[in-house]
Amino acid sequence: MNDFDYKFFEDLLKRESGLIITPEKVYLLESRLMPVASKFGLAGLAAIAAKLRLQKDTELQCAVVEAMTTNETSFFRDNSPFQKLKSDILPYFLNNRPTKSLRIWSAACSSGQEPYSIAMLLREMAPQLAGWRFDIVATDLSNDILAQAKSGIYTQFEVQRGLPIQMLVKYFTQQADSRWQIKDEIRDMVTFRTANLLQDVSLLGQFDIVFCRNVLIYFDVPTKAKVLGTIKNQIKSDGVLLLGGAETVLGISDSFKSLPNTKGLYVRQDSTFAPVAAVSVQK
Ligand SMILES: C[S@@+](CC[C@H](N)C(=O)[O-])C[C@H]1O[C@@H](n2cnc3c(N)ncnc32)[C@H](O)[C@@H]1O
Repeated sequence: MNDFDYKFFEDLLKRESGLIITPEKVYLLESRLMPVASKFGLAGLAAIAAKLRLQKDTELQCAVVEAMTTNETSFFRDNSPFQKLKSDILPYFLNNRPTKSLRIWSAACSSGQEPYSIAMLLREMAPQLAGWRFDIVATDLSNDILAQAKSGIYTQFEVQRGLPIQMLVKYFTQQADSRWQIKDEIRDMVTFRTANLLQDVSLLGQFDIVFCRNVLIYFDVPTKAKVLGTIKNQIKSDGVLLLGGAETVLGISDSFKSLPNTKGLYVRQDSTFAPVAAVSVQK
């Protein structure tokens, strides 16, 4: 690929999704965009770039952006955020939300394993959560991946990654083609919506708990700071933010601060949130 076309894709991806494509990753452009070129009847990447330069083509542009996203995910990915949700975060809110309702946002939810893991965890805690209402909103930039998420259908390989067998048996049914369909009682707990974290997401409303995991890693520092600022505006004053294992706010944004002994968990600077487990240790 020549420098002119490389620069075109580099700018487009950074502007539209925040993705940074370094020169060593040019091979990714080639492997992921060739199928897009074929689908649109174009000869290759140079033809895609030429077409998009010439005229606005939202469908082609979205296809390019979506093809370049990394959708890697799994049920109960990294486990520890879900443990924290159960042992530290939910107990705090159970004591601090007289309205008995909580809003949870899975930002950049990919094919749905993250919000469905949250939904299954809540369902497992039903006796403790009797009388509570949960609104789980799951968003992603990619419409293709959201369609997959909404279907709630997973391959044998996908359900083998992170999902305890008891939950598989309890919350999924196996289809004739041997894939697994999540049951409606879990699927109906999640609302999926398209949202780009680089754009205005205020219509989603405010949340108590935000999972935004394994997406900031693809952005440069100014974009990470911008997205963290956006999330701050959608989080209640004592709400919590969970980032991925390789992500942090430190040195990037002062919208949030970390809490001692709770890696990966962040709160607003003025927050009154205190993880219940940590409180009981201090007593
Ligand atoms: C690696 S997956 C992470 C999925 C899940 N959060 C997890 O940790 O397993 C990253 C997701 O971020 C989405 N994404 C990338 N850029 C985005 C943006 N600007 N706004 C919203 N979602 C974005 C991708 O489509 C992809 O599904």
